[in-house]
Amino acid sequence: RVAYVNGQYVQHGQATVHVEDRGFQFADGVYEVWSVFDGRMADFDGHMTRLHRSLNELRIPIPMTREALERVLKETVRRNRVNEGLVYIQVTRGTARRDHPFPAEGTAPSVIVTARSLPLSKGNAAAAKGVAVITHPDIRWGRCDIKTVGLLPNVLAKQAAKERGAAEAWMVDEMGLVTEGSSTNAWIVDESGKLRTRDTQSNILHGITRAAVMALAADEGIEVEERAFSVDEARRAREAFYTSASGFVMPTVSIDGAMIGDGKPGPIATKLRAQYLDQAR
Ligand code: PDD
Repeated sequence: RVAYVNGQYVQHGQATVHVEDRGFQFADGVYEVWSVFDGRMADFDGHMTRLHRSLNELRIPIPMTREALERVLKETVRRNRVNEGLVYIQVTRGTARRDHPFPAEGTAPSVIVTARSLPLSKGNAAAAKGVAVITHPDIRWGRCDIKTVGLLPNVLAKQAAKERGAAEAWMVDEMGLVTEGSSTNAWIVDESGKLRTRDTQSNILHGITRAAVMALAADEGIEVEERAFSVDEARRAREAFYTSASGFVMPTVSIDGAMIGDGKPGPIATKLRAQYLDQAR
C-alpha cells in the first residue's frame, strides 16, 4: 500500500508526519472520507466542497489547487488498486514549534491521503439484519459543522456502543434530542410515516450521504422533515437508519436495547439503501 504525504507517495508502513504537526498536537486539522465504487470516488464534488469549507472556516490555507488535489486523490486510489473501498484525506495547519496561535504565515499545511480496499458487500449482512444503536450524551463543541480531526467525544461514544454490542452511538443534546451518530447522520420514519432528520442549522455535520438520501427520498415522493427528534420519538418510530460515506444507509432496529418497529429493517430504509448503492455505482 501507498500513502501520499506532503508531496510524495511513500510506502504505507513508512508514512509518517512530524512530531510537531499541529494535527497531532492540537487536532488542528480537517478530514474527509469518500467511498469508492468501481474505482470511482462517490459524491466527489460534495466532499471536496465540504473540505474547502472546513479549511476556510478554520482559516487553514488551501494547500493546493482543487485540480491538483483531485489528481492526488485519484492517483492514490489508482496506486492502491482500489476498486471498492475508502479514501481518506487529512489537512492540518502544518508543522511548527508548539504554540497555540497560528504559526507564521507561509507555514505549509500538511496533506496526507490514504486509500484502502473494503468490499461493499462487507456491510450488506449487517444491513440485511439491521443494527443496534445506543444513546450517549453529546459533549462536543459548538462547531460540529466543521469536519475536524478533533474526534475524542465521537471516539468515546463509538467505544461505548462497541462495549454494549451496538454498531453506533446516537448522541443526544441537553434537550433529549438526537443530534447525530458518532460518525453518521441519524434518521427515523416517525409515527406519521414522515422521514425525519435533524436540520443542519443546529450543530451537526452536513452529511453528504444525508443530502444524497434526501434527494432520493424526494424522487420517491417520501416527505422529509428536517427537524430534530427525541430519543422517545426514536423508540416509537416505525423505522430508523443512519447514513455516512462509509456505511451508506444502515437500517437500525433497536435503540438502547428497545426494539424499533418490528425489529427488522424497515421498507423505506431498505429501499433507500438499495437506491443509494444503485446511483453511486
Ligand atoms: N464520518 N456525522 C459525523 C459526526 C460524521 O463524522 C460523518 C462522517 C457523518 C456522515 O457524513 P457523510 O455522509 O458526509 O460521510 C455524520 C466519516 C465517514 C468518518 O468519520 O469516517
